[in-house]
Amino acid sequence: MDKDILILGIESSCDETAASVIRNGREVLSNVIYSQIDLHTVYGGVVPEIASRKHIEKINQVIEKSLKDANVTLNDIDAIAVTYGPGLVGALLVGVAEAKAISFATGIPLVGVHHIEGHICANYIEHPELAPPFVSLVVSGGHTHLVNVADYGVYEILGRTRDDAAGEAFDKVARAIGLGYPGGPKIDRLVRETGADPKSIAFPRAKVGDSDYDFSFSGLKSAVLNYINSERMQGREIEPEKIAASFQKAVVDVLVEHGLKALEDRNENRIALAGGVASNSALREAYKEACKERGIDLYYPSPVYCTDNAAMIAVAGYYEFVKGVRSDLSLNAVPNLKLGER
Ligand code: KG4
Ligand code: ZN
Repeated sequence: MDKDILILGIESSCDETAASVIRNGREVLSNVIYSQIDLHTVYGGVVPEIASRKHIEKINQVIEKSLKDANVTLNDIDAIAVTYGPGLVGALLVGVAEAKAISFATGIPLVGVHHIEGHICANYIEHPELAPPFVSLVVSGGHTHLVNVADYGVYEILGRTRDDAAGEAFDKVARAIGLGYPGGPKIDRLVRETGADPKSIAFPRAKVGDSDYDFSFSGLKSAVLNYINSERMQGREIEPEKIAASFQKAVVDVLVEHGLKALEDRNENRIALAGGVASNSALREAYKEACKERGIDLYYPSPVYCTDNAAMIAVAGYYEFVKGVRSDLSLNAVPNLKLGER
């Protein structure tokens, strides 16, 4: 057998400082994540300045631990894959500068990776049989994309959000009903634990007039805020679990409907969910049911590979590396990097 290829992945685009070593694109040798969530919770969201400073403080330790956990040294690493966009510019810069410094000092090749490509590639870790082509629904705090994965590293965007990302809507609604940050997992848990009826309140399912695949969540978010205001004006207490269940169902319905439409139109029978919101239990259940009925193969990563991590970046970096993609020391952070661009 050919020599193993080991990729060191580095991720620092938002509030997780992460490093991971991956063997031959699919096997996780280590996956170290330092989450800053507790630091940002008091502010109700990610504070970019604090995020960058904490990345600087933690990144060396996180990388060292990822090598140690994998029982390797930099001498064993074939390439360094680093997220260079999209994300918070100051946060991205920490990972990019670190990766460039290691590459410069050691001569190890550098591969810049798109964060969303990483989220999609997270599906390869636990599903050895999954290979392109397939459709992917990427739902995170910053992105909502419906993507045709034509080949490794070849992406065609079918639809995207016109305003808020799905995770962003979860976070904003959670704040409005007093659950705090990050809102997605809290809404998910509240609905599961209370068994609240998703039909309690009729919230709109947003349609984007000229596209079957695009999303819009700002109208839904406003509808929730208006509902809360009107209840309070009328002197009624709000029932957070009913709002959470009804809102979550409105998001899930649209995410499932558009995904199924894309599969049907393309005559495709495989869909992979990705991103933080892909760990939402209502979304998974709804997809499971819909896919079972239609004979569609459904994939999603374990929660630890749904939210930001560096294993997914190393996997994406592997497929770029074996295609011959290399970045040089001019690699820079690109906060609004588009999928499919270099
Ligand atoms: O992928 P991710 O870690 O970061 C970005 O790239 O944005 O996603 C974070 C987002 C947050 O908005 C968080 O509220 C949401 O994913 N999220 C969830 C769940 N777990 C995380 N949303 C709904 N249900 C969940 N279980
Ligand atoms: Zn992400």
